Amino acid sequence: MRKVVYSLALALLCLGCTNTKCPQDALMGHEAEIDAIIAQMTLEEKVQMLHSKTIMSSEGVPRLGIQDIKYADGPFGVREEVGDGFRPLGWQMDSATYFPTGSALAATWSPELAYSYGNGIGQEARRRGKDVMLGPAINIQRLPVGGRSYEYLSEDPFLSARLAVGYVKGMQDAGTAACIKHFALNNQETNRGSVNVIADERTMREIYLKPFEAAVREGGAMCVMPAYNKVNGDYCSENEHLLNEILRGEWGFKGMTVSDWGGTHSTMGAALHGLDVQMTGDNYLGRPVIDSIATGALSETVVDAKVREILRLRFAISPVPEDEANTVLASQPETRAIAKTVAEKSIVLLQNNGILPLSPDVKKIAVIGRNAEALTASGGMGAGVKTPYEITPLAGIRNRAPEGVEVTYAPAYKNYLGMFARWFGQELGPDVALELDEQPDPAMLAEAVSLAREADVVLYFCGTNKNIESEGSDRTDIKLPVGQNQIAAALADANANLVTVVISGGPCELEAVTECSAALLQGWWNGLEGGTALAEVLFGDIAPSGKLPFSMPFKLQDSPAYALHNFPPEEEVEEDLFGARYRRDIVGNRRPRLPRYKQTSEYTEGLLVGYRWFDTKFIPVLYPFGYGLSYVDFEYGDIKVSADQFGIDDDIKVSFTVRNCGKMDAEEVAQLYVGRPDAQVEWPAKELKAFSRIALKPGQSRKVTLAVPVSELCYWDVEKNAWSLEAGRLDIMVGSSSKDIRLNSFVTIK
Ligand code: BGC
Repeated sequence: MRKVVYSLALALLCLGCTNTKCPQDALMGHEAEIDAIIAQMTLEEKVQMLHSKTIMSSEGVPRLGIQDIKYADGPFGVREEVGDGFRPLGWQMDSATYFPTGSALAATWSPELAYSYGNGIGQEARRRGKDVMLGPAINIQRLPVGGRSYEYLSEDPFLSARLAVGYVKGMQDAGTAACIKHFALNNQETNRGSVNVIADERTMREIYLKPFEAAVREGGAMCVMPAYNKVNGDYCSENEHLLNEILRGEWGFKGMTVSDWGGTHSTMGAALHGLDVQMTGDNYLGRPVIDSIATGALSETVVDAKVREILRLRFAISPVPEDEANTVLASQPETRAIAKTVAEKSIVLLQNNGILPLSPDVKKIAVIGRNAEALTASGGMGAGVKTPYEITPLAGIRNRAPEGVEVTYAPAYKNYLGMFARWFGQELGPDVALELDEQPDPAMLAEAVSLAREADVVLYFCGTNKNIESEGSDRTDIKLPVGQNQIAAALADANANLVTVVISGGPCELEAVTECSAALLQGWWNGLEGGTALAEVLFGDIAPSGKLPFSMPFKLQDSPAYALHNFPPEEEVEEDLFGARYRRDIVGNRRPRLPRYKQTSEYTEGLLVGYRWFDTKFIPVLYPFGYGLSYVDFEYGDIKVSADQFGIDDDIKVSFTVRNCGKMDAEEVAQLYVGRPDAQVEWPAKELKAFSRIALKPGQSRKVTLAVPVSELCYWDVEKNAWSLEAGRLDIMVGSSSKDIRLNSFVTIK
């Protein structure tokens, strides 16, 4: 086994930034003008640019005709106009398309769709007069319970990276800057405002930083949002290693950084260690900057460098003229169509005994479960969208059901409004559950069972809601809430034709519903046309083609951070900045307090996140990463690799055929994983390195070629502080999921 260490220059070459134009160059076309502007600016004018002007803008240079920068959340649609404290301003023209949320987008496994999705949001942002969208959110889904898993893409860095690049390019091609967030290692919401994430350099580089690196280097992201948390001792908004050494130094980032809202922590730290704009407030990057310069503690050149980075973005993104913004509704038919296509390709069929697609003989359908009619566009704190409409699953089914088919409905379980409802004294009616593990209400259950008994087919909608999965907190477990398992069992007793649809953003424990359902689907929070897309799948207008972007363990305790007791953290009694101060800013209320947790989060599972853990440790999962069935079978064959031996500059080209053995149009996502059987360096058993979505007519066979750049096989050599390539045997596994490997080959890395 030989190790070859590659210098940074070579690594850069491998990542395609030398021969072709570097995407970050899009920010570099106006340096002379920027010099001239900075030369004319007073120190006060410069410092005005380094902090918020309003909750969603920062100052330009009015005297010199440079417009303010206008931001909007992100990441799955343009958020409505908000004022101080995030209070909606009640505008008429600020409805925007609710796109499927992050994990749903990721389930398409389509960088092309991610491009369209980013482009659609980018177009809508311009109609709203926005320069910077606060998205995509591309942190790794480290914890099944993660409150923001639904915003994030995947547990896998390669899938996240490919989608992030598509999203960012699409958005920026529409003329809106993408602000990738939350940089970095913001993988838990529990004490996110203060937690110190302890991760080794290799784990950071290969898992957590990968999507950000790709979004910057390949996607050309113009804006980066440092996260709330600390990484290895320093807050992300003043983290020299993350912001100056890696982001700017190694990745060549030329754009601006803007702290997460309330995530700036000091003047000198932020000023010297990489933050350009404090959001929100000016207590650190306002007057204190001027004072620090006056005392000689800080040099004005530091401020000039920040102003330069902000102006680069300002010049790269043309401001929307005041009289053009908000003149038409942001959400238009073309952008809604993108949301619908993403929804259609995101739905994951987890099991099917042949009951789906629904037969034309079905004349009476019982739709059961509150999630069939729950609205999902808003809630979950920051990321909601004021959508012009939302087709719920129930509406989608009613719209699509053929003439003469009767659709009945019963909610079956109570609504869970979460801790906020109780804290703020929200009216809690009889149909509100007070606890997540509440037993089913006997009357509601009886109503549901009686509809189920009378129907030909039962479509049961279970899952979470945005009070359960939300920014600001993590779930305490991933069990189906409010008695949904018991309800599933009762429905199955009443009618064996039970089709269960899970409506959630993150994974749930599904063993019980798997056992009693004839078919099971993951239906996501799927945008304003989500119900339409789901009905198309149920009635067989299209075949399901989504693949899980995360593993679904049998139980939470099997997952790596839990198994190693890295999460949940122990409770302590220290102050948490987010809970203690920022929360008050949002809700104008001091009373509610989150529990205080241990302030470090150790990532001792290292590289073994998601399926990397389950596969390496031989821990069975209920549904593996990359899994998803269709209404047809696919046959894989004829694997060929372009050579036997490969060096650092080569691409390993793997070709094979995929055939649609069924009777309808269908799409398959073929996945390529690698393994290193005789490695000296520790590697996960299997890692995704390429994939492709393939559309096939009935009976059609196509040759697919996937390329793996050998440079993508490097590991971060901690001793050398550089990327290294380990020579030796590389196993190549091609299949339909991380567990369903259909073809094997191997090559040698020189
Ligand atoms: C979230 C960010 C969001 C910002 C502005 C923060 O609480 O973490 O994702 O962009 O608020 O709404």
